[in-house]
Amino acid sequence: MKTEILRYLKEADGYLSGQELCERLGVSRTAVWKVIRQLQEDGYEIEAVRNRGYRLAESGDVYTMEELQSVISTRVTGKNLVFLDMVDSTNTRAKQLAEAGAPDGTLVVAETQSAAKGRRGRSWMAPAGTGVWFSLLLRPRIEPEHASMMTLVAAMAVEKGIRETTGLHGRIKWPNDVVVDGKKVCGILTEMSADMDSVNHVVVGIGINANIREFPEELREKATSLFLASGQVVKRAGLLNAVLLAWEEYYGRYLQTEDLSLLAKEYNEKLAGLHGRVQVLAPKGDYTGISHGINHRGELLVEREDGTVTEVMSGEVSVRGIYGYV
Ligand code: BTN
Repeated sequence: MKTEILRYLKEADGYLSGQELCERLGVSRTAVWKVIRQLQEDGYEIEAVRNRGYRLAESGDVYTMEELQSVISTRVTGKNLVFLDMVDSTNTRAKQLAEAGAPDGTLVVAETQSAAKGRRGRSWMAPAGTGVWFSLLLRPRIEPEHASMMTLVAAMAVEKGIRETTGLHGRIKWPNDVVVDGKKVCGILTEMSADMDSVNHVVVGIGINANIREFPEELREKATSLFLASGQVVKRAGLLNAVLLAWEEYYGRYLQTEDLSLLAKEYNEKLAGLHGRVQVLAPKGDYTGISHGINHRGELLVEREDGTVTEVMSGEVSVRGIYGYV
């Protein structure tokens, strides 16, 4: 009923009478009033005026199951939505759901995570009220070795979602960090379960620092948030929807060819440090070269001192700009 009342309020042009709400839902005035109170507690500004009814005024950053259901406008992604106030890690939960048979496109969103996972076994800071922390469960019919490219697709979707919601122009630090003002605002962790020749499922976990106001000392040089970069509080539900819409668009194009042929050009336009010097930290020894962007497999083309071009695969190495994090 909460979702329905919220939808009616959003659709209404001006005031919606209490009587009408009761009739539409077949419940008492007291029942409607109780739900209105709950919505106000969730953060909606709802005016209640005698003889006129209820009106939804501008609301802040409301982040609840009902808000997400009313805002998400994708075709498939997130139609099966799991919203949790607290979880260890949305990636871990998405994997459990996958094993229990959850459908392609399942979206797991958490307000906070107690053991969020970063890449390379690191942890990830995921405080409540400030971030967009979520995982997508996908069941693509692709070769297992092509799955890592989905991380690059996700980075493109995050950049577009951020741009459309905040006006900020982010860049992608290959393969999959999104940076704003030279600092990281988003990290992506993709995990796969596969047999030798077929993918069982892929979990794409995305963390966007939306409204974080301050980072601990040790992260301040490297990390930022959309709030710190724009000075505006971001409405997280709208941001999430924009990222999901962009994801559907780019992911659809990726599935057409099972590689990045249709996306590499746009990816490279968003790439931080294109044609700049990078340092590649590889297991067999570090080297520097000039980054010429990605190829259709998502490998970074790095021109070495002797003029040869190395195709650097993500996962094996870490790439740094010569001048700091980006
Ligand atoms: C990185 O190290 O840059 C990747 C960070 C990924 C964090 C996100 S938050 C949502 C999802 N759940 C997790 O446990 N991790 C990812």
